[in-house]
Amino acid sequence: MKLFEVYPINNVTITKARGSYVWDDQGEQYLDLYGGHAVISIGHNHPHWVTRIEDQLEKIAFYSNSIKIPLQQELAEKLGKISGKADYQLFLCNSGAEANENAFKLASFHNGRKKIIAFSKSFHGRTSLAVAATDNKNLVAPVNETENVIFLPFNDEDALAECFKENGNEISSVIIEGIQGVGGINVADDSFLRKIRSLCDEYGAVYLADCVLCGYGRTGKFFSHDFAGVNADIYSMAKGMGNGFPVAGIIVAPHIKPKHFMLGTTFGGNHLACAAALAVLEIIEKEKLMGNAVMIGKYLREELSAIPELKNVRGRGLMIGMEFAQGPELTPRPDLVKAILHEAFERKLLLLSCGTYGQVVRFIPPLNTTDEEVETAIGVISKSLEAAGA
Ligand SMILES: Cc1ncc(COP(=O)(O)O)c(C=O)c1O
Repeated sequence: MKLFEVYPINNVTITKARGSYVWDDQGEQYLDLYGGHAVISIGHNHPHWVTRIEDQLEKIAFYSNSIKIPLQQELAEKLGKISGKADYQLFLCNSGAEANENAFKLASFHNGRKKIIAFSKSFHGRTSLAVAATDNKNLVAPVNETENVIFLPFNDEDALAECFKENGNEISSVIIEGIQGVGGINVADDSFLRKIRSLCDEYGAVYLADCVLCGYGRTGKFFSHDFAGVNADIYSMAKGMGNGFPVAGIIVAPHIKPKHFMLGTTFGGNHLACAAALAVLEIIEKEKLMGNAVMIGKYLREELSAIPELKNVRGRGLMIGMEFAQGPELTPRPDLVKAILHEAFERKLLLLSCGTYGQVVRFIPPLNTTDEEVETAIGVISKSLEAAGA
């Protein structure tokens, strides 16, 4: 049997990983500032994470949600404490798309409405409603098309207010990434998030914070939406949550009440997934990784901004993008980005592109990336820019 080829593959086989480094099958070492797509939050194969999973594996790996699983409660308590949302309720699932899918569904159960507001350049996943609320027509199959999603320009408060004025009583939820990842590291304005909060309150809609990529401490706050100083009703989370073990979830504000069977999953919240997720939170707390994300992120941004060719460096904490565009029209330069990534790869640095045209280089490394690793990366980036003709 062959694989169903949906991914453009990099020509490398990684066989070992530790901290911010990975090694290929030839023994070559790479610095991973791509973080396995923002999944590696506490560093590859952190010893505590390995031990926690191994210990759990010895006891029991899986049983269904038909029994008591105290690890789930332990995880909820730890998550409530670290995120500052102790009064929220945790529902566990398996992926970011599934988390958002459940968030939409729950919002709709809650207020009995159907319409969702999403924003330009958004990415919320590849399943039915998640992909319908994703601003990329290429990902949406005919069966996913729906009239229930309204797209508005990102960070446009007037357009949002106008939309609520016209359709307010039909809006079930508003979904937004605190920092758009796939869309190009675009930071949601704090005032825009506050506007979402106040309009949702006024019209009885549910504010959904997609924290799948920008959450879990990556920006220095547990949820990047927290910078706005207002709470969302539901936060979705996934990538950094298990450091590579598949686990995801939503946390739900106390005024939204559960009913048996309104949500459900076979695998979500299994013993092994909870052990992995607990190990991640324990390390984030013990090693003060949110503080590190702020410090190292600032250092990385400053160093990048000091490179004369780099003008548009943006982001928060360890979610940083640098955009390449030219001329008064700011024409995107995806070819240049491709060349830079290739040169960086040749110099053993892993990075990723994003943005509508692939015109942005993004940094989404482990939260325990060090000063020395940033220094190494900056050296490689300077050389790669030169070699790519930037
Ligand atoms: C903001 C955001 N939401 C949702 C998803 C979907 O997550 P998953 O791939 O785990 O389904 C992603 C994945 O990249 C994402 O970046």
